[in-house]
Amino acid sequence: MARGPLTRPAPTRPPPTRPAPTRPPLRVLVVDHTAEPGGAELALLRLCRELVTTADDLEVRALLLSDGPLVDRLEAVGVPVDVLAVARDVVTASRYGLSGGGALRRLRGVARTQVALWRALRRADIDVVHTTSLKAHLLATVPALAARRRVVWYAHDRVAPDYLPWPAVLLVRAVGRLPRAVIANSRATAATLGRAAVVAYPGLDPDQAIAPSLPVPPRAGAPVVGIVGRVSPTKGQLELVRAAPRVLERHPGARFRVVGGPMFGAADHLARVRAEAERLGVAERFAWPGTVPDTRAELDAMAVCVHASPVPEPFGQVVVEALARGVPVVATDAGGVPEIVGRGPHALGALVPPGDVAALADAIVAVLDDLPAAARRADRARRVVAERFGVAGTARVVSAAWRDAARRGRRRRP
Ligand code: GLC
Repeated sequence: MARGPLTRPAPTRPPPTRPAPTRPPLRVLVVDHTAEPGGAELALLRLCRELVTTADDLEVRALLLSDGPLVDRLEAVGVPVDVLAVARDVVTASRYGLSGGGALRRLRGVARTQVALWRALRRADIDVVHTTSLKAHLLATVPALAARRRVVWYAHDRVAPDYLPWPAVLLVRAVGRLPRAVIANSRATAATLGRAAVVAYPGLDPDQAIAPSLPVPPRAGAPVVGIVGRVSPTKGQLELVRAAPRVLERHPGARFRVVGGPMFGAADHLARVRAEAERLGVAERFAWPGTVPDTRAELDAMAVCVHASPVPEPFGQVVVEALARGVPVVATDAGGVPEIVGRGPHALGALVPPGDVAALADAIVAVLDDLPAAARRADRARRVVAERFGVAGTARVVSAAWRDAARRGRRRRP
């Protein structure tokens, strides 16, 4: 372990405002393979902050299989973190490395990691192991069961052949039969798991939304068409660049902002997206602010926030973040996104077929053609999402799954 032992005492908390719980707290260990702040990890941070401040019958710790920014960010919200140093290629393999020759080459590293996990979990005083990434599910489930711990998965990825190679789909579904409970980040994700799952939408912190009682600040200057998220072939920055010429034909003053940087080894893809902007002659219309610590100011400046994932997005929390700030949204109609946006006359934004660049451009143009109408719809949307997608709801579902998993055959404490 690079950091303190798992048995280290939890940090002291402010005195509880409610009467002290009579039962010992439920001890949960969150396991993630990465310490980079991807979407699932940002959702985890919000969930942990909510649980640490509201649930005094829970003790949450984390075990990460790499060191990185998530370590300090989890500790800052009151979650003690341990880092288990494992072979780098076990945790950096792309999702395609989970299959075929890649898996065979990594088998030794995987076996060593699992033994190390089993040792760490056996020693740790915990009731529930909560895994929160595909690699954490695959690496930690069997060691946790061997260490006689309850296992709960929070699935943030669709386990489907349009998202993962077939061998990985089969492997994840097979291992996925073992946990006591599986939580999914959308109904779309739940439908791909091959077993029963409860849905907990990754909720927002109240301060990510503009409070319904406050007005949305007006946007000045040239309309900004923005996209927010890590830069990846699955997140649609390339599609937005390809849609830009058609948008500019109709709205020559429009500007584009690509907020977010590459992660998990996708630096080449950013270069490819920028080269495409040059090739299409739209590069000077694009700004690339990269990763920003807080996306609120970026979102507030957008006339429209685009979510262009060409593959079905498991959930799409950027869509909720934009709507919560009263920003009109154009998003691809697949995966979890329609669960957020809805369809028909009450839809909170516009949906377009994934990968259809012309439809994407036309939907952006439709927003820019009538900004007041888009603003009215977005204003209604922010009230709806503030109610439906709060982190308190996520915390309720997740902590109920933990309690339920622990109750069915609670491990006796020494
Ligand atoms: C993953 C998914 C994304 C989801 C997020 C939070 O990053 O790709 O769709 O919004 O997890 O669940």
